[in-house]
Amino acid sequence: MDLFSPITFRNLTLKNRITLSPMQQYSAKDGIPGNWHLVHLGSRAVGGAGLIITECTAVSPEGLATLSDVGIWNDEQKNAWKTIVDFVHEQDAKIAIQLWHSGTKGSLKHPNEGMKPLTPEEGGWTLKSSSATEVNGVISQEVTLDEIQELKIRFVDAALRAVEAGFDIIELHAGHGYLFHQFYSAVINKRQDEYGGSFENRIRFLVETIQEIRNVIPKGMPLMVRISTVDYMDTPEAWTLENSIELSKILKVNGVDLITASGGGFTNVSKDRVFPGYQVQFATAIKEQIGIATGAVGMITDAKQANEIIVNGLADLVVIAREHLRDPYFALHSAKELEMDVEIPWQYKRAF
Ligand SMILES: Cc1cc2nc3c(=O)[nH]c(=O)nc-3n(C[C@H](O)[C@H](O)[C@H](O)COP(=O)(O)O)c2cc1C
Repeated sequence: MDLFSPITFRNLTLKNRITLSPMQQYSAKDGIPGNWHLVHLGSRAVGGAGLIITECTAVSPEGLATLSDVGIWNDEQKNAWKTIVDFVHEQDAKIAIQLWHSGTKGSLKHPNEGMKPLTPEEGGWTLKSSSATEVNGVISQEVTLDEIQELKIRFVDAALRAVEAGFDIIELHAGHGYLFHQFYSAVINKRQDEYGGSFENRIRFLVETIQEIRNVIPKGMPLMVRISTVDYMDTPEAWTLENSIELSKILKVNGVDLITASGGGFTNVSKDRVFPGYQVQFATAIKEQIGIATGAVGMITDAKQANEIIVNGLADLVVIAREHLRDPYFALHSAKELEMDVEIPWQYKRAF
């Protein structure tokens, strides 16, 4: 088994283990993916990655972080995604959509304008989270029990639209300090009802959403979840690897096929905790203890390093973000370096 071995989840086979990690491009209008997204995602598919994952895609307008993020809450967005999905499929790659709600990390200006809170005149909205919190001087309100039911419906509707658009996999973004993470981590969740307090209560919103999505999508369609394995905070409320292992066990029982083990989201991660492959250990721990497939992410940047993760059974997918920005052809270049045979797009054969 190596970086270029196929892998099957339910009815879907990926041609290799190289995955484009979701990366917000802040290049959309009205949540509609456009030419930039087609070229960004399409060129990594041309570049040989077996799995393309879209950037985080909001399930409702209030789930955006900035007004330039993408969404899939209406048919215009769904149709625009379909063009991208079709192109990726033409390259013999598969594509997952990362469904997402930003919770309290929303209503922000574009990164080129400093990501400061939007004013109402600029289109800003009231932020909601598991609990009332204050971030950057902006107060979020606690979502009501009715709103939690409404949010789950938004996720299910988005998943159904993604199926209609032809996506191969649904991935839930349950990490990086966004809404699901704001529920399962006690750093933010201070609720007193059945969605707060104990571990079981804090994971309830994520688990129920997964159950409802799993119920409506085709049985052969894989479901993946990206979690923040640890909060990288030294407080008693912080979410831990042990919590992630326990959560993964429950996600597996509820029909999740792969966990991508990311981390953080509430605070800057101190430099000494970040090194090449720094989060592979989390993917390995979850894989070994729960027997669920995992994706390793974080500072995986070269072919040998990526190959060793697979050869040594440390994870099932290598999920590569920034190196893919530097090199859209990371997979084709890796095959050449590792002297492995892969299919080159016929248009490019004279160069590889
Ligand atoms: C520009 C940019 C945008 C990102 N947007 C997302 C996102 O939409 N969803 C997500 O789960 N992670 C997002 N991330 C995190 C990456 O997917 C990845 O986890 C992180 O960059 C570490 O991997 P790397 O060292 O290979 O870059 C983003 C990272 C970057 C650099």
